[in-house]
Amino acid sequence: MKLQAITSKFTEANVEALAVPVFKAEKASSATLKEFDKLTGGLVADIFKNEEFKGDAGSTALIRFTPKGAVKASRLLLVGVGNESDFEASSVFTTAGTATRFLRTRNVKSFALLSRSKGTASSIAQNAVSGFITSQFELDKYKTKDKNKKSVDSFTICVDGAKLADVKAGITRGEAIGSSMNFTRELANEPPNILFPIEMAKRAQAMAKEVGLKCEILDEARMTKMGMGSLMSVSKGSSQPAQMIVLRYTPAKNTAKNGELLALVGKGITFDTGGISLKPGDGMDAMKYDMSGGATVLGTMRAIALLKPGRPVIGVVAAVENMPDGGASRPSDVVTAMNGKTIEILNTDAEGRLVLADAVAYAEKQGATHIVDMATLTGAVIIALGDLNTGIMGNDQGLMDRIIEMGKANGEGFWQLPVSSEYSKMIRSDIADVKNIGPRGKAGTIMGAVFIQEFIDKAKWAHLDIAGTAWNDNGKSHMSKGPTGVAVRTLLDLVENSL
Ligand code: BES
Ligand code: MN
Ligand code: ZN
Repeated sequence: MKLQAITSKFTEANVEALAVPVFKAEKASSATLKEFDKLTGGLVADIFKNEEFKGDAGSTALIRFTPKGAVKASRLLLVGVGNESDFEASSVFTTAGTATRFLRTRNVKSFALLSRSKGTASSIAQNAVSGFITSQFELDKYKTKDKNKKSVDSFTICVDGAKLADVKAGITRGEAIGSSMNFTRELANEPPNILFPIEMAKRAQAMAKEVGLKCEILDEARMTKMGMGSLMSVSKGSSQPAQMIVLRYTPAKNTAKNGELLALVGKGITFDTGGISLKPGDGMDAMKYDMSGGATVLGTMRAIALLKPGRPVIGVVAAVENMPDGGASRPSDVVTAMNGKTIEILNTDAEGRLVLADAVAYAEKQGATHIVDMATLTGAVIIALGDLNTGIMGNDQGLMDRIIEMGKANGEGFWQLPVSSEYSKMIRSDIADVKNIGPRGKAGTIMGAVFIQEFIDKAKWAHLDIAGTAWNDNGKSHMSKGPTGVAVRTLLDLVENSL
């Protein structure tokens, strides 16, 4: 893979195709497009006149032409980007991905993209390169034939008039971010007979070694000894032992104020059958993705290790399989979490919150002052927000606001739902401190959040319910269907710029 930066002479780039973002309803005579219209002997105007292409987001039109003079490319790809006013640096992620996926089908191996965004050169390049890299991820790892063998190998981003060093810095960052998102996606896509808790821990260890993170794995004996009765109750029905993966990033020079330590905590249910509260068979296969929160933590920690921000971060993943066997937890069991609280398990399918209870308590015991947990926690969040927004809840408005804001800057939607003591009352148990579900059909996503909140002591905390956003059922112009790697970009931005 070759990644290049240019800051002038876009049309002369030594590539097979030139890709140009086109705004909705833009004219072929616009300041930018007239050059390309001329280059193609009027074909841009022709395509517009024929209404073959209108600049709608995600649409494309390919024009072949005979290069003249210093021009080397023989194809022009128009990439629709929608309204000009909405075209931000983060939009370049989608634009680059859409162009890559389209050109790949046409056997193009190299292309250059003109930026046309008003963002900073570095952030444009970062988004372009991460969009380029993530767009070529495919689900076909286990296919022995019909694998997608096509790939675009060389990508050039042109930010006209920028400093070359800025564009290059953005490329380096984009490479780290895109490959880390793909790392998350690869894990989320693994079948559960291959990726069970021990295997997830091994992958984390190998990644940590590669990028220079400390990695510690807590086995079941350690977790039991530490009093993680809530997490362990989920693992009881599985023949695969649970693993707590702990990654530590320590900056060379700590610029965090007042001993701040951020913990990223992820739900790593490698498969969720529901346990004794068994899920229906239809669609249960989707539950291989139930470790997406954990995979997001691992991918984000990977990007952090590569980009070396100034604040320390720990990553905690509760890797557990939720299965029903003779040793499995029963609805009505009572267990004790690491912080001493007792839990009445009324539904063994509400297992994510059970493993997170001990994982967040562990993170705080490790000194975390800020905790962001992420989990494919509830079906209810999919009903509420679909696959467009991640549900966000927490105990600190400032922290949530910053995540929402960083999300906007990265093209990722977060939508806040309320938590309050009245919601917390809904999970009071008759016989223990709390129960793991609320009343049927009421505020399902919030019930998950207020349950986790019971296991946070003083830390500032935000909870991300990514059940809807971690998986994409249909595929997009810039991304294959399947795991999305959601939140990696936003969390990295949070760590680097705005905790
Ligand atoms: N992993 C599921 C959440 C989920 C369900 C994600 C459907 C995507 C689609 C979680 O462990 C779960 O089963 N949650 C239950 C909670 C309920 C028992 C209170 C749910 O959402 O139905
Ligand atoms: Mn479940
Ligand atoms: Zn689950």
